[in-house]
Amino acid sequence: MRATVSNGTTLGKSTIRVLIADGDEQQRTALATALSARPEFDVVATVGHGERATLLVSQLRPDIALVDMAMMRSDGSSAAEHIAFTTPGCQVILLSSHNEPSVVRRAMQCGAREFLIKPIEEKELIGTILRVYEGAVRQQSAVLAEMSPPPDRARTDQVIAVWGPKGGVGRTFLAVNLAVAMAAVEHHRVLLMDGCLGFCTADVALNISTGRNILDLVGDGGKSPDSELVSRVVVHHASGLDVLLAPPVEAMLQIAPAQLQRIMSLMRSIYEYIVIDTRPLLDSTTVALLDLSDVILTVCNPDIASLRNLRIFLDAAGYLGYGPDLIRLIVNRYDMRGAIPQEEIEGVCRRRVAFAIRNDTEAVSMSINRGEPLVTSQPQRPISVELIKLASILTRAQGSGPAKAESAAVGVLDRLFGRSKLNNKPH
Ligand SMILES: Nc1ncnc2c1ncn2[C@@H]1O[C@H](COP(=O)(O)OP(=O)(O)O)[C@@H](O)[C@H]1O
Ligand SMILES: [Mg+2]
Repeated sequence: MRATVSNGTTLGKSTIRVLIADGDEQQRTALATALSARPEFDVVATVGHGERATLLVSQLRPDIALVDMAMMRSDGSSAAEHIAFTTPGCQVILLSSHNEPSVVRRAMQCGAREFLIKPIEEKELIGTILRVYEGAVRQQSAVLAEMSPPPDRARTDQVIAVWGPKGGVGRTFLAVNLAVAMAAVEHHRVLLMDGCLGFCTADVALNISTGRNILDLVGDGGKSPDSELVSRVVVHHASGLDVLLAPPVEAMLQIAPAQLQRIMSLMRSIYEYIVIDTRPLLDSTTVALLDLSDVILTVCNPDIASLRNLRIFLDAAGYLGYGPDLIRLIVNRYDMRGAIPQEEIEGVCRRRVAFAIRNDTEAVSMSINRGEPLVTSQPQRPISVELIKLASILTRAQGSGPAKAESAAVGVLDRLFGRSKLNNKPH
């Protein structure tokens, strides 16, 4: 029996992503047909074996897994247990033809959220999925809302650069939404800094404009900038966030690294967090900004072009002295159509993916076009829940852990990078 897999959300609509694992092919097809007919669901995979189901859940990260208890190669309840442990963001609904107490008890013990007895009516199936999904989103939002930062929080990640090895990977979208989440949801004093030198679109995403920019902080060599001047130069956004814009690239290049360093020290004394949206180049200003950062969120998309550039950057990072603790790998749009699985990305980069953000074309472009950050305009949306979570991880200075030890990359990416390079030691 072969697994059928579809990558990516349908038509960019934010849908509830469902994986169906059922040993009975007819039943599998019936479930998939019922769900696919409704716009709120995206059936990301159908599969007949328990082992394959757990593998696909870890790769595709569906919101819901419908798991039949009677499956070959690892029964449904073992698969459910495995999923609950390794992919807690995926809610398991177990399906069974039996409702004896022992079966129900086993279902309750393995971390499943619901238990449905076959034959399953369509109305019951849909109602159950919606209830489980909404319950999970509510629970996650409540946990995030209740979490208050510990008073003695380590402040190692005060300056956060959002970097990417290629244009269009989502740096600006992530920088804007992370900064807004830190300011509006977590009530920190946050500065979003345009490090894109005239190519930044953060002003569009936040619907702001001003004639002032970082050059106004450099002055004419006389008085040093202070917090009063900063307050006049930055744009105060409705979310509570302050934004420091940049001049066009030619003007920005006049700022010497030492001046940039002075400005950043001042900003560190004023703001709890500084998020920098950067250019996808290693020009002198970008390197100066990365040098001044405590963490470099390195954003990539799960496609070959993005990964190729990422790998080149990771090699260069060694020469620049950026250790594995500094660089955190973020996969943006992890579930886009044709996405390269996370394991392969980690294999090629010899690094763990610190966080993955889903694809949600409709909501993201609408939020950018309207100039309304997604995390405040639609905080319940799954992508916003992920962004708010990433912001909360960053503000708690929870690192992604050490870089992964050497691991051999397999599959399509081998041909791009060759075996010899892969045998290099991780940075
Ligand atoms: N998670 C996502 N889901 C869907 N579309 C996204 C996502 N992240 C970014 N995009 C889209 O990708 C495009 C590039 O994003 P942007 O933030 O401007 O990239 P960059 O700053 O790296 O050049 C934008 O049109 C944005 O709408
Ligand atoms: Mg950008």
